[in-house]
Amino acid sequence: MSTIIIKNGRVIDPAKKFDRVADILIENGKIKSVGKQNTSKGQVINAKGLIVTPGLIDMHVHLREPGREEEETIASGSTAAVHGGFTSIACMPNTDPPIDDEASAEFVYLQAKRTGKANVFPIGSVTKNRAGKELAEIGQLVRGGAVAFSDDGDPIDNAEVMRRGLEYAKMFNKPIIAHCENKDLSGPGVMNEGLISLELGLPGIPSVAEEIMIHRDVMLTRLTGGRLHIAHVSTEGAIELIRWAKKRKIKVTSEVTPHHFTLTDESIKYVNGGFDPNLKVNPPLRTKKDIQAIYRALKDGTIDAIVSDHAPHSPEEKDVEFSSAPFGMIGLESVLPLIITELVNKKILTLSEAIAKLTINPARILGIPKGTLAVGADADVTLIDLKKEWVIDPEKFKSKSRNCPFTGRKVKGRVIKTIVNGKVVVDN
Ligand code: DOR
Repeated sequence: MSTIIIKNGRVIDPAKKFDRVADILIENGKIKSVGKQNTSKGQVINAKGLIVTPGLIDMHVHLREPGREEEETIASGSTAAVHGGFTSIACMPNTDPPIDDEASAEFVYLQAKRTGKANVFPIGSVTKNRAGKELAEIGQLVRGGAVAFSDDGDPIDNAEVMRRGLEYAKMFNKPIIAHCENKDLSGPGVMNEGLISLELGLPGIPSVAEEIMIHRDVMLTRLTGGRLHIAHVSTEGAIELIRWAKKRKIKVTSEVTPHHFTLTDESIKYVNGGFDPNLKVNPPLRTKKDIQAIYRALKDGTIDAIVSDHAPHSPEEKDVEFSSAPFGMIGLESVLPLIITELVNKKILTLSEAIAKLTINPARILGIPKGTLAVGADADVTLIDLKKEWVIDPEKFKSKSRNCPFTGRKVKGRVIKTIVNGKVVVDN
């Protein structure tokens, strides 16, 4: 029998509204008790001065296996995850080929198990080959272990296909994670449409390209009674629509990335000398006003989860001029310190509110038995030093890719230990 005792940490488990100094006893990969422990059998971890949370969950990650293994594999991505404090991640199906059948979903579990780092939950594509035309075999994907459905990276243009997707996924109580973008409106855009795009002479993506699609999908969700999760929310108008839907008990949840609350379109002008292709993301970085709206939405619960949208790209792809680069930046190893530095330390969210958006909220959206330190739960635990100051250096990341625009940024908050199913996988 393997036993670990984590002693004297400040245990924060938002699912149980628990926040106090306590010991955690882990036996055979499960949480055995939370409280005072007098025994000293097994491995003792001194967590005095540290925060002890349920293992963090990132519900929006792009691993590039199969297809672009030079950028990220399930092994490298799940290793980066645990170093970022994430014990569970959900991976998007925009691989090559996409995760659109039972075997490809099973493959993700198999590779993750072989690596033995984070738990990796596959998200199946809504449509066959992610082509947006015909529904994928949703039932088979569920059998293969898909926890949600998404064509993320691309929107589902056809409203009828989206409607059927919501209806079908509803039969399995799974959410559709929507990448909301009207392609007619985003067109050849490469950054937010506004004064800055005008000044830089780059084609813009208007906020309404995102908002019009959210509006459509909210209406379809109301019609079908399905479950909709809005990916990477970036605009004030998007937030208003989600708030409107939630008030009417339409089953909508949402997420935001750290880059959408720490960077703006203006960053493209000056960060890293200007025109850094690592700042090119979809949806694009917006404005200060949008960030203020995101803060309010995080606080009042309109935004449920914080995710990395970890999107690895090779230097060959990214080291080109801004307009030719693909969209996306990595994030697994910078999400937590950015949240601590920019949201918690600046009093936008309490620590417990921030942790809820990284644990129990994504667990509930995905319907996975994770995100809490309840007795009997899988022993996924993250130990964090809130005070530790460090400088982001992607060269030190475990991810295979380096497309991170935060190089040189001073942050606070460091992962000290990550425990997955009772096994210490990161020990700093
Ligand atoms: O910036 C992005 N990159 N947004 C997406 O929706 C897809 C992602 C990717 O896969 O590279």
